[in-house]
Amino acid sequence: MNLTIRRAAPTDVTNYGRLLGDELPEVFFGDYLDLLASGEFGYGPDPGEVALLASDGNGRVVGAALAAPPVSSLTEANLPEDEYERACSDLSKLAAIAVRSDSRRRGVGTNLLLSVATTLANSGHRRLFGQFHAKSSDLAKFYASLGFRVLPPEAPLVLPPWLALQAEPNYQFFLRTLLPLRDRETSSGSADRT
Ligand SMILES: CC(C)(COP(=O)(O)OP(=O)(O)OC[C@H]1O[C@@H](n2cnc3c(N)ncnc32)[C@H](O)[C@@H]1OP(=O)(O)O)[C@@H](O)C(=O)NCCC(=O)NCCS
Repeated sequence: MNLTIRRAAPTDVTNYGRLLGDELPEVFFGDYLDLLASGEFGYGPDPGEVALLASDGNGRVVGAALAAPPVSSLTEANLPEDEYERACSDLSKLAAIAVRSDSRRRGVGTNLLLSVATTLANSGHRRLFGQFHAKSSDLAKFYASLGFRVLPPEAPLVLPPWLALQAEPNYQFFLRTLLPLRDRETSSGSADRT
């Protein structure tokens, strides 16, 4: 597939919402989509906010991915302000990834997720994590194929000194460290695996 991956623009929000809504109807994206539409998401000073779209050779949107710092978890952790800032520039959470059903198993998800990881690593982020429902063994394979460590169902995600997150019931975390640009220039080139 002739794939193009680019940052989502505020005007893409209809496409984005439709794709995520169709593929992930159980997840609520309202806040992110409103922020994206207003131009506040992914265009402001926070480099941890990444919203990408994948289009095929005909310009049809076939996939989308969205990552952002885990603001609500960090707020609950009640960190001092400087630690909070450091955590936001270190950690990002994959909030959503979806590929149109008729375009799956052709590398779109891989390209999207690697683009998210590269964008974050280039802005100094060191870790990307997320969680999925444990009934989705396919997702465990997908994330593992991309170098993520997939934790057992309901195992907590502990990222000292900032987070000790309890998994939601029947959910499991995945986590990958990201190699910063300066390290990648002197290494074999791929992201670190935890
Ligand atoms: C998860 C998802 C984004 C993957 O997108 P994709 O474009 O199909 O993924 P890729 O083609 O890049 O797959 C890469 C590898 O992941 C693994 N993988 C992906 N989907 C898989 C499946 N259904 N079953 C088993 N392994 C799978 C395979 O190892 C695959 O490599 P291969 O095709 O060479 O065997 C897509 O299936 C999707 O949109 N699912 C619904 C939304 C969703 O659940 N999102 C995740 C929320 S946490």
